[in-house]
Amino acid sequence: MSTISKELDKLKNKYSARIKSKIVSILNRNEIDSESLYRLAARICHRHLGDEVHLRGIIEFSNYCGQNCFYCGIRADNHTVKRYKIPLEQVYKLSLQAREYGYRTVVLQSGEPAPYSPDSICRLITRIKQTTDLAITLSCGVYPAAVYRQFADAGCDRYLLRFESSDQKLFNSLHPDITLEERLQALLDIRAAGLQTGSGFLIGLPGSSPSTLADDILLTSALSLDMIGCGPFLRAPQTPLSGRPSLLLNKSTYYNTLAILRILNPLAHIPATTAFDAIDPHGRDLVLQRGGNVFMPNLTPKSYRKDYQLYPGKPCVDEKASQCAGCVRRRLARLNRPIAENPGGSFRLRHIL
Ligand code: 5AD
Ligand code: FES
Repeated sequence: MSTISKELDKLKNKYSARIKSKIVSILNRNEIDSESLYRLAARICHRHLGDEVHLRGIIEFSNYCGQNCFYCGIRADNHTVKRYKIPLEQVYKLSLQAREYGYRTVVLQSGEPAPYSPDSICRLITRIKQTTDLAITLSCGVYPAAVYRQFADAGCDRYLLRFESSDQKLFNSLHPDITLEERLQALLDIRAAGLQTGSGFLIGLPGSSPSTLADDILLTSALSLDMIGCGPFLRAPQTPLSGRPSLLLNKSTYYNTLAILRILNPLAHIPATTAFDAIDPHGRDLVLQRGGNVFMPNLTPKSYRKDYQLYPGKPCVDEKASQCAGCVRRRLARLNRPIAENPGGSFRLRHIL
């Protein structure tokens, strides 16, 4: 057994079987019975992180992808997708726009790996850091450990890489190009490079069960992450899962998952991920009321948005960046949540950094 495999087992077994069965029973609660859970998650969020919501502008800078994850609408073998690659000069200008909208972080996300050389990504990072006070989050897949160190040296602050599912068998059946061990090793490399680390999983993958979901929650919590990003699985056309029923979940299960994650991870930044708006028109607002503290308005130019459809029903496809900027302010005002004025670095590391 490899070291990382042993590590995975250790992480999964960090919590007792009793905790796992309790989580399964909470996951199965309906929305009405979950009210006290949501209140607790909101209270914990308020106590540890305050009421502020951090805005992270997301730029989907390319939809080229070398991977064939069975669930993903932009998988390499989906030849119906029109591929694009935003020139890095334009990504720089979009970052300046992010700052004008009042965002303190830009998230640069692409298919895996990004179709630019690590050197050119580093030059972009350094330029953004030298000319703005933005924090930078990268989310563009698995690289050798040395590349994560290069990103960190260039000034990158954070890195997001979901492990997608903690169930090795399920993971293997959905990811022909990579193993769970390799993905977890990448997370360890990201942390070792000194980057604030974010990860998470897909909720409701076909072939998963409430027990799998409880394991996903426990693995996420055992990883002591700075950021936790999870969202509902949505069946995408032109993918091998397009005809497979998702794990038939009550909508409350999605929210319960995030609320439990908040309770187990009081110091993590937890975004109301975009896919929540695809299951509920106010899905992201509900997450913010049930433990979430981050919102990621879309900064991708409108002409590219329709080509970054990881799943159907993605919100904001017909909006411009300026419309999302206005929308998020109205949403937060309605929720009575102030917008954070700081870049929102790791709370977990706040006292030692
Ligand atoms: N439904 C929901 N989320 C998806 N992602 C990819 N495909 C889908 C889908 N069909 C998520 C993955 C990936 C993130 C960028 O998008 O979890 O890590
Ligand atoms: Fe994009 Fe509301 S956040 S339109």
